Amino acid sequence: MRAARGARHGKIGGPNPTGRDARPGVGSEGAPVSTPPRSYAPQTPRQVAFLGLGVMGHPMAGHLARAGHQVTVYNRSAGKAAAWIAEHGGAGAPTPAAAARGAEFVFACVGNDDDLRAVTLGESGAFAGMAPGAVFVDHTTASAAVARELHAAARARGLHFLDAPVSGGQAGAAGGQLTVMCGGDAAPFDAMRPLAMNYARAVTLLGDSGAGQLAKMVNQIAIAGLLQALAEALAFGRRAGLDMPRVLEVIGKGAAQSWQMDNRGRTMLEDRFDFGFAVDWMRKDLGLVLDEARRNGAQLPVTALVDQFYAELQAIGGARWDTSSLMRRLRPPPD
Ligand SMILES: NC(=O)c1ccc[n+]([C@@H]2O[C@H](COP(=O)([O-])OP(=O)(O)OC[C@H]3O[C@@H](n4cnc5c(N)ncnc54)[C@H](OP(=O)(O)O)[C@@H]3O)[C@@H](O)[C@H]2O)c1
Repeated sequence: MRAARGARHGKIGGPNPTGRDARPGVGSEGAPVSTPPRSYAPQTPRQVAFLGLGVMGHPMAGHLARAGHQVTVYNRSAGKAAAWIAEHGGAGAPTPAAAARGAEFVFACVGNDDDLRAVTLGESGAFAGMAPGAVFVDHTTASAAVARELHAAARARGLHFLDAPVSGGQAGAAGGQLTVMCGGDAAPFDAMRPLAMNYARAVTLLGDSGAGQLAKMVNQIAIAGLLQALAEALAFGRRAGLDMPRVLEVIGKGAAQSWQMDNRGRTMLEDRFDFGFAVDWMRKDLGLVLDEARRNGAQLPVTALVDQFYAELQAIGGARWDTSSLMRRLRPPPD
């Protein structure tokens, strides 16, 4: 049976009635995400809103507050907003529209396309509260199509919309070292960039609306194939009887080196898969990628196969393992 994509699990982007933290990217202990100190460039304090205080949004909003901005937060489950306010000060609002009222910039980091529509559109959506000229900055990993749809809806109201997905994971958000890939219009991008630099090391406009989401898809395609190749290399070396930690040290200084090899190689050998970005999230992202490829005609045979490998991991209980758990599928059968 084909396992459901994470986005349809009802966990990702869905309500969390237990109040326990079962989010991808959070350790099983559910410890709150703290925002370590970072220096910030001098800047004019702005009134901003931040919608979605999950693994990524909580520390990103924290950096904005620490940089001196007046931040009003909204989170669907109120407990996370209360915890953020207790840590950073600022204000909370009961709806996205109320949070957005009076804000020059409204940031969001929610789960998927539907979640994004839920916090932007309708009576209680952010667009209803924003004043003409205000900028909505979306850090969700979503489709290029929803970015274009919301860009047009924003423009019809005299607002700006930028798609701005991020790479760098929970550690990058906490340390303020994310990479932000943007699509949209130049003027609101230029105005927004100094704010996003409070939690990023690079914030780049890559084209018209949707270009940021398409760049994030490129990023995910590159990671998926690389992780499968790394898993196969490690499994092969182990079967060949090599001292694989030593092999990693050696080939990590050569042409096979990668971030994944440096940061996940050892833990993959140790069968440890609790390091952030979860299989459920990756399946959501590869779903976006494969939909887009069907539209633009790109051939993604390896990506499509790796997507199915992740589906197998979901089916055996690995929905919340990190993406390097592709290694699990390659374990030798028990004697
Ligand atoms: N985690 C990572 O390492 C990572 C890295 C890069 C990109 N991303 C992307 O960043 C986005 C957020 O990831 P995350 O790890 O921060 O997820 P998360 O911890 O699940 O946080 C998502 C937040 O969005 C809120 N939300 C979801 N659906 C909503 C809705 N319909 N209405 C209102 N609020 C809603 C959730 O509220 P509740 O508290 O009520 O659930 C939660 O606060 C995703 O698109 C993900 O793919 C994540």
